[in-house]
Amino acid sequence: MKRVLSAVKPTGRMTLGNYIGAIRQFVQLQDEYEMFIFIANEHAITIPIEAKELRQNTKDLIALYLAAGLDPAKATIFLQTDVPAHAQLGWVMTCMSYMGELQRMTQYKSKTANGETGITAGLFTYPCLMAADILLYDAEYVPVGIDQKQHVELTRNLAERFNHRYSDTFVLPEPLMTEVGQKIYSLQDPTKKMSKSEGNGKGTIELLDDPAAARKKIMSAVTDSLGIIQYDPENQPGLANLLTIQSCLTNEPIDSIVNRYQGKGYGELKKEIGQTVYDFLTDLQTKYKEIMASGQIDDILAQGAEKANYIANKKIRKVYKKVGFTISK
Ligand code: TYM
Repeated sequence: MKRVLSAVKPTGRMTLGNYIGAIRQFVQLQDEYEMFIFIANEHAITIPIEAKELRQNTKDLIALYLAAGLDPAKATIFLQTDVPAHAQLGWVMTCMSYMGELQRMTQYKSKTANGETGITAGLFTYPCLMAADILLYDAEYVPVGIDQKQHVELTRNLAERFNHRYSDTFVLPEPLMTEVGQKIYSLQDPTKKMSKSEGNGKGTIELLDDPAAARKKIMSAVTDSLGIIQYDPENQPGLANLLTIQSCLTNEPIDSIVNRYQGKGYGELKKEIGQTVYDFLTDLQTKYKEIMASGQIDDILAQGAEKANYIANKKIRKVYKKVGFTISK
């Protein structure tokens, strides 16, 4: 069985973008692949975050993974910090990377271009830790939204470099992206990604938003003045984003939605999408509350950590030998 690995970092509250671009794919893939899904809590501190908030986000994220349909009987679910090999290989990968290639990472570039101050060294080198995350498990596929594609490509380069410098050690991974929904945009500025770091404004739907408030956000989403319902991301990005959300949450192809709305107005379409989002969040949150109350999270994480450590430790031992850290044979 081929291996798939992915993660979400608990920096903020999960958004509909995280669900559509990533978590939804995890659930779809778990029957066909051997899955490793973790909570990237080491990545979360690349941006300052209070311990209390990190703890809460972490618990929420695990419960949301499960509420979205991730099944611990099929997928190994674990906390990054429960597997020390991530940080260990992360350091080796940091030393395999060049400053220049990290400077070319668009996520980092966009942060520095915005003139943001207080950027940590961790934020700069986090793609090296992400490479370690993936390479430890010989993952062949990494389901992600488009913003993470470049980091998976860097991972391939680092794996190739290591294999070439030492000897064959790592599998070269490929990003896996959904055809529709690789990038969900802000409802208020459809040229920007819907992002958890934006805070819970009108542009972002959080998975734990009050469903009625989320419906309002859809109703007040920015569209355009053309008044024609068609899928044209370039000229009608707001509408295209709404159609994408509806299609991803219902599995109805975009063309079919567009056909149903010929001659109708945006208001009517928004009403349907608002209801879809309302129903989706209501169902997800009911399951989330049950999981939070059930006390099963600790056991799931303990089992996940055991499986993950077994595989990751084998790989790090190999790497330590090849690099020359281990002095006994
Ligand atoms: P993170 O936590 O920023 O995002 C988690 C996943 O959600 C996707 N995503 C989106 N997809 C579509 N539309 C959006 N608006 C949107 N916003 C976020 C992201 O592409 C991602 O797939 N570094 C990673 C976490 C990570 C990881 C890994 C991922 C750490 N180690 C190893 C894969 C493999 C991150 O910051 O994702």
